[in-house]
Amino acid sequence: MGMDKKTFDSFRELIYDKSGITLSEGKEALVAGRVGKRLRALQMETYKEYLQFLTGNSREAETEFVQFLDVISTNVTSFFRESDHFDLMGHIVQEMVEAGQNKVRIWCAASSSGEEPYTIAMTFLENAKGFRGDCRILATDISTDILSKAVKGEYVEAKMNGVSPQLRTRYFTSTGMGQARIYKVNPELSGMIKFARLNLSKPPFPMKGPFDIIFCRNVMIYFDNVVRKNLIAEFERLLKPGGYLMVAHSESIAGLTTLRSVKPSVWVKH
Ligand SMILES: C[S@@+](CC[C@H](N)C(=O)[O-])C[C@H]1O[C@@H](n2cnc3c(N)ncnc32)[C@H](O)[C@@H]1O
Repeated sequence: MGMDKKTFDSFRELIYDKSGITLSEGKEALVAGRVGKRLRALQMETYKEYLQFLTGNSREAETEFVQFLDVISTNVTSFFRESDHFDLMGHIVQEMVEAGQNKVRIWCAASSSGEEPYTIAMTFLENAKGFRGDCRILATDISTDILSKAVKGEYVEAKMNGVSPQLRTRYFTSTGMGQARIYKVNPELSGMIKFARLNLSKPPFPMKGPFDIIFCRNVMIYFDNVVRKNLIAEFERLLKPGGYLMVAHSESIAGLTTLRSVKPSVWVKH
């Protein structure tokens, strides 16, 4: 079933309004295919019917919006993704410990199914030998579905590629065999992380900060410069002086920030 331009524009406006995600022009076929999955799941006949349901005020509409977002955007993530950020984080943590810092706050914005915040927690623990204090990690995402997966903290063998045998033993408890083996994160890691729903396109945010490090990777690609700029201004506000913002390697924020670049994907507050 094809999607006419007017219906496509209505979906575009809705998704931009609610999540800041920009669907590029001319993506009617792509959106039609992906939204088609939701129509079939809900046994609806037309895109218009779905759109009406989605724009209604019901609780079901809100729940469905998460499913809609999930088919439009992607939750792809992995442990130790873009691993040089975690090498750098290791050095930053060691410096904090050496300097006697006893309170560390890290925010993982757009944490998807949890691999990224659990990687942050492992990186902290591996580099904070002798740390006396508390390290808390806030992990947020717009999708309540993906957040509940993250909270569960269970990963099949195929998702564990980036995690070394030593780290698996130290931070996970596994059950089952072969490809069916499930790794569950240990309380030592999960206890450091608070998961919460947060829409990055709607600053200001309720957190006080200040954060030592903010990770915001592979989500700004979906935003236009207006949404990006407002979001980055909020990161600047919430960072400590000397605090770091890590973005994905494919996402340049040059020209949108007063933060200083120490590497193309790493920014520091003055
Ligand atoms: C591709 S994943 C990136 C995950 C992780 N940061 C990484 O780099 O591996 C993008 C995530 O952004 C989330 N997302 C999309 N729009 C968002 C918004 N407006 N506010 C917060 N999260 C959003 C999606 O639900 C998804 O989990």
